[in-house]
Amino acid sequence: QAPVRHALRGRAVTFRADPFQDGPTAALVHEPDALIVIEDGHITAFGPHDALRPTLPEGTPVTTYPRAVISAGFVDTHVHYPQLPMIAAYGEQLLEWLERYTFPTEARYADAGYAARVARRFLRELLRAGTTTAAVYCTVHPQSVDAFFTESARLDTRMVAGKVLMDRNAPDALRDTAQGGYDDSLALIDRWHGNGRQLYAVTPRFAATSTERQLDLAGSLLRQRDGLFMQTHLSENVAEVEWIRRLFPSRRSYLDVYAHAGLVGPRGVLGHGVHVDEDTFHTCHATGCAMAHCPTSNLFLGSGAFRLFDALDPRRPVRVGLGTDMGAGTSLSQLQTLNEAYKVAQSTGRRLHPVQAFWLATAGGARSLHLDDRIGTIAPGIEADLCVLDPYATPLMAQRAEECDTIEDLLFVLMMLGDDRSVRATYVAGALAHDRDHDRDRDAP
Ligand code: GUN
Ligand code: ZN
Repeated sequence: QAPVRHALRGRAVTFRADPFQDGPTAALVHEPDALIVIEDGHITAFGPHDALRPTLPEGTPVTTYPRAVISAGFVDTHVHYPQLPMIAAYGEQLLEWLERYTFPTEARYADAGYAARVARRFLRELLRAGTTTAAVYCTVHPQSVDAFFTESARLDTRMVAGKVLMDRNAPDALRDTAQGGYDDSLALIDRWHGNGRQLYAVTPRFAATSTERQLDLAGSLLRQRDGLFMQTHLSENVAEVEWIRRLFPSRRSYLDVYAHAGLVGPRGVLGHGVHVDEDTFHTCHATGCAMAHCPTSNLFLGSGAFRLFDALDPRRPVRVGLGTDMGAGTSLSQLQTLNEAYKVAQSTGRRLHPVQAFWLATAGGARSLHLDDRIGTIAPGIEADLCVLDPYATPLMAQRAEECDTIEDLLFVLMMLGDDRSVRATYVAGALAHDRDHDRDRDAP
């Protein structure tokens, strides 16, 4: 439990603007010796230590992090907690990978005790990676959602999650029905949406595993309560796109399948969007629906390269967040995910600047979820979800960090060489939720 008022001191980075629109220099806030004052789970002051320290009431505890970079906690906009036990499953592309590995794994979550154990391990891993908010797929079983939110509520993390809807093209044990999926989702919404920091996402897995009636009912669910999220997969893989075309011959595009059901709008998050056209980007821009860029997954499954800079075209920018997409993604670390995002950009002839990269993993992710008034930056009034990054975490990183003259260089070293070892601490709603050097033994398998 955190004291009512406390403060962190150290080098800090955050954002005052979107670096893709306004440029890295205008967007970055870099405070080489910052004080971050935290009260009742929120940031109440942020600025140069020397200026702010005299305003702190006598006796306020201050934790100092020398040689660190304090950032807003990372935001993972697309991830599957039930796939933790099958991360790194060999040899298939999307549709075969789902059949061979994913569905059998997800069938285990009929067991609420199993779901609770994996949810607990998953959330610990997220905090070890510096991630404090994620948009999370559970399984088709309502108990998998209760397990996840129960653990997230215990940790007080701000999570977005929902029950997967699938009423066709899946094994018997993993299918719901259109009406059953609706009823179960509504009961979960009433139990969890807005319960503390928990938020609910209506979660049709993808168009191939839902009938048109189920998609329509998902759209209707979204209209039942304020502030609900919607998450699904879009145009990830060529064979998948072809299958959707055959399943929905009268729709203009893959996105149109979802739009027709009333699923495309603010707080919608479309995973992947690798094989999409200009029209799809335009609709996302116009409706406020986001895309989740999942580079480790797109590389792992051989899905293709997301055209990040086309999505972000300043003439009609799409809200884009970064997603690990673990289990198809190969890491829960947003630093490792940025490493791959940089390489994917290179392969398309573009350059992902480190300031742009860190924006995607924090403020941009929060904005993609329409949560930027609550999380994703370091500023008064924002919830105190923070991570303390250590650019000297390994001998290799330390010798490279010594060569860095600018904060941009240091951020680049963190994203290219960093992983969970370079997350020294994670704060959730102002409380220390992960302390690398202290938790090392506790986290041993
Ligand atoms: N498309 C439908 N389901 C999934 C899933 O679980 N993972 C990924 N990467 N793509 C999907
Ligand atoms: Zn996914």
